[in-house]
Amino acid sequence: MSTPSNAIESNLVENRVFPPSDAVVKAARVSGMAGYEALCAEADRDFEGFWARLAREHLQWNKPFTQTLDESNAPFFRWFGDGELNASANCLDRHIGTPTENKTAIIFEADDGAVTRITYKELLGRVSQFANALLSCGVGKGDRVLIYMPMTIEGVIAMQACARIGATHSVVFGGFSAKAVQERIIDAGAVAVVTANYQLRGGKELPLKAIIDEALAMGGCDTIHNVLVYERTKTACNMVAGRDKTFTEVLAGQSTECAPVAVGAEHPLFILYTSGSTGKPKGVQHSTGGYLLWAKLTMEWTFDLRPEDIFWCTADIGWITGHTYVAYGPLAAGATQIIFEGVPTFPNAGRFWQMIERHKCSIFYTAPTAIRSLIKAAEGDEAVHPARSDLSSLRILGSVGEPINPEAWMWYYKNVGGERCPIVDTFWQTETGGHVITPLPGATPLVPGSCTLPLPGITTAIVDESGQDMPNGAGGILVIKRPWPSMIRTIWNDPERFKKSYFPDELKGYYLAGDGAVRSADRGYFRITGRIDDVLNVSGHRMGTMEIESALVAKTDLVAEAAVVGRPDDVTGEAICAFVVLKRARPTGDEAKAIATELRNWVAKEIGPIAKPKDIRFGDNLPKTRSGKIMRRLLRSIAKGEQITQDTSTLENPAILDQLAQTN
Ligand code: PRX
Repeated sequence: MSTPSNAIESNLVENRVFPPSDAVVKAARVSGMAGYEALCAEADRDFEGFWARLAREHLQWNKPFTQTLDESNAPFFRWFGDGELNASANCLDRHIGTPTENKTAIIFEADDGAVTRITYKELLGRVSQFANALLSCGVGKGDRVLIYMPMTIEGVIAMQACARIGATHSVVFGGFSAKAVQERIIDAGAVAVVTANYQLRGGKELPLKAIIDEALAMGGCDTIHNVLVYERTKTACNMVAGRDKTFTEVLAGQSTECAPVAVGAEHPLFILYTSGSTGKPKGVQHSTGGYLLWAKLTMEWTFDLRPEDIFWCTADIGWITGHTYVAYGPLAAGATQIIFEGVPTFPNAGRFWQMIERHKCSIFYTAPTAIRSLIKAAEGDEAVHPARSDLSSLRILGSVGEPINPEAWMWYYKNVGGERCPIVDTFWQTETGGHVITPLPGATPLVPGSCTLPLPGITTAIVDESGQDMPNGAGGILVIKRPWPSMIRTIWNDPERFKKSYFPDELKGYYLAGDGAVRSADRGYFRITGRIDDVLNVSGHRMGTMEIESALVAKTDLVAEAAVVGRPDDVTGEAICAFVVLKRARPTGDEAKAIATELRNWVAKEIGPIAKPKDIRFGDNLPKTRSGKIMRRLLRSIAKGEQITQDTSTLENPAILDQLAQTN
């Protein structure tokens, strides 16, 4: 737990503080630090009473809960355990009969620029219809459904439809390979797949269904009886009789009414696979009640949501951000949101800014990696600079997924936010379900590069390796001391790993986030310093180094050994750097280049294109201690191009360092 941060280094020290303007404070839902502190004090005074109040106010319950928090089987906490509700009803049906029913729920902009709008009432009809289609395929409460869909209204419909009938969805990002899909189908025991024939990104038609076919052909997926295929484009795809059905076929004749199935608050709403320290991705299991409460509440608190807002979270539904702040939060809160199918650089790198202008977006939420790449693009081409678009509709900006360096923060603040929009730098994780540390736009004075303070009721702290609190100014391990409603419930199929990963014995029952952090001496603000385990953050995508190593050594005809580390990258935050020992002599020149390409393609097949190493260095060996342990900190220095200053006396083969430093 002592790996140093690989997060990108910042040249700018930004000590300025940006307090919210009086007008913003006055109009905000959580108004000023007094408003924030009042909520924190309420949670302090009566922790369970605080959460119970919010759960009653923000969710509609079919059966009210009588017990708020059950800690009897910690760390398997239960929230609102005897209550019953339905997540889809809380996102859709609740708006029917209110002015929201005819409000636009989703403004969809396709890759080619075509725009479709759908109201809450229409969305309810479409979700119900698809829920009926799932039921007609024999999918029901408790079944798992794997969703492998493009960023479309239909992706959200598939998720909501599962929730409506009590099926547990597991969405897999479209950038994962057939092998990754197969592993997730097997681990989740999924009974059906929802996919599309193709996805459209950057003007290209990319296959999705073909990847599902490949995954199912790999074997072990006998649980799958139905593959439902959304015809995103007119191009035909392979269809297996009896197993595969198009949306048109399966929706034909289905009613647009489907009674939502009330489930227990702890019923698993979804499983979402994410990377950990070992080779195998973890199926993070979330609840229905606690998760949805936090999705709705953080929409309102963190984004200070108002009825007239046009909200846009650019994350894909394949990641947690796309679950909480696309598929659930905005709908539960009755917001109008933008969903974008394409990529920020097509047809040009001004697309985001043009879309903000076109749709009068007022809250824009994206990742630092996107901001950094758009800064680069704007520096190279005036025509795609945000100044070319009218961004006056913007009110609030957000950042998520990785640390935002102060340079990028300042650029975002000035050029996108016109120096009037607060930036909420939201720290959270797949496991936390929603934001845990973030400024509130009408309350928290902002410091660039800091996610500031925990949300009310969230007991984050910085401790040492034995769980002792660290003073402000000293770095340490980020923990959350008490449970919170939207926390991970378990790792699907692996409760022991859940306990070991998140509640290690030495940390006194605190939740271990896996990040290092430091609190500022003056304000007690949190700054995340990066992961303390073997997890990388590449373009905001979470990736396990061991996972990539396992993929490399699975190329048994070629690879003898591999070690993967991260190095800073000024656009993607971190870049993947692989050190590889082949079963044959160390290649050089063109041969090295050819083998590196072969290995990159191999990793893309094993995990997905997002896991391709940027650098591959070949060595005769890897730096090891006499007991055979690979010295990763030395590899990290080499990857960064640093001089080795660390002690290398325990190394069995110090000469290897020079060789690895030379190869590229
Ligand atoms: O290292 C932290 C980083 O992203 C990790 C969580 O990744 P994932 O589960 O994929 O969820 C990403 C979207 C919530 C964290 O452990 N991270 C996320 N947000 C921030 C961050 N690091 C610094 N600042 C953030 N705002």
